[in-house]
Amino acid sequence: MAIDTHNHPLAAILYRMMPLPYHAPPEANAGALHSNMAERTDEIWKTSSLAAVYLEGVRGAIPLAGEQLEVMLRLIGACGRPVRRFLDLGCGDGVLASAILGNYPEAQGVLVDFSAPMLEAATRRFADQSGSVRFVNADYALASWTESVAEGGLYDAAVSGYSIHHQPDARKRAIYREIFGLLAAGGVFVHVEHVAPASAWGAAINDELFVDHLHRRHPEKSREEVAQTYYRRPDKAANILAPVELQCQWLREIGFADVDCFLKIFELAVFGGRRPLAD
Ligand SMILES: C[S@@+](CC[C@H](N)C(=O)[O-])C[C@H]1O[C@@H](n2cnc3c(N)ncnc32)[C@H](O)[C@@H]1O
Repeated sequence: MAIDTHNHPLAAILYRMMPLPYHAPPEANAGALHSNMAERTDEIWKTSSLAAVYLEGVRGAIPLAGEQLEVMLRLIGACGRPVRRFLDLGCGDGVLASAILGNYPEAQGVLVDFSAPMLEAATRRFADQSGSVRFVNADYALASWTESVAEGGLYDAAVSGYSIHHQPDARKRAIYREIFGLLAAGGVFVHVEHVAPASAWGAAINDELFVDHLHRRHPEKSREEVAQTYYRRPDKAANILAPVELQCQWLREIGFADVDCFLKIFELAVFGGRRPLAD
């Protein structure tokens, strides 16, 4: 099975860490717009091996992961609405949803992903809370994903973690618009996301930080080995990362209020806004 890592900033790391034999990645095709479905590369997430390496080897190495969740929960807590119903887009094993349910055990979560192994991991995570979550196997690259989550009414909160950057910028904007349409007045959107660095200098610092965190996560390997694994990945320019300022501007143009980047460490950001009480 050929695996192309170009469209995911973490996928390249995972790709090199995968114990399975792999095909060499094709030449960078800078962003692979999804007009042609055959060019899509985000579907690597549908493989069990990639899902496992991410969940077991990388998720726990994300710098400031705990702080990102804390900021997300503060934003949700301050949105001014009771949190009864929330959406987690590109949920993976449900790490964001789990944090929300920890604070709002009475809430109902709708967790969207298109990867069967990820949804299976999420099902295991919520085995004791199965009444609090509904899993939806849907592809948000297609506008029709909203139909599969519309049942039950509007949402008090929508979150997404490290997922939407798979999409070309035009589709990212459309997804933000679709999320806006799914939120109740006052409902909050919190995006925990990998965003574009402002310069090569910033990117290099981000890389070193990530290597340090990965090394802490994999102490059985030398730092050099971890770094080589990380740096041997395909050119980062092929990722579809967008600057956080630009993405905040898109949110404002869509109609979100109180838009800001609330936390940022190099290329990792928590940003979002609220649907105004009156549009
Ligand atoms: C890096 S993981 C992040 C998982 C989780 N949100 C977290 O914060 O750890 C990205 C997730 O997005 C999902 N995903 C990527 N593209 C998707 C798409 N077009 N539609 C639905 N899910 C998608 C993947 O299957 C994967 O579970």
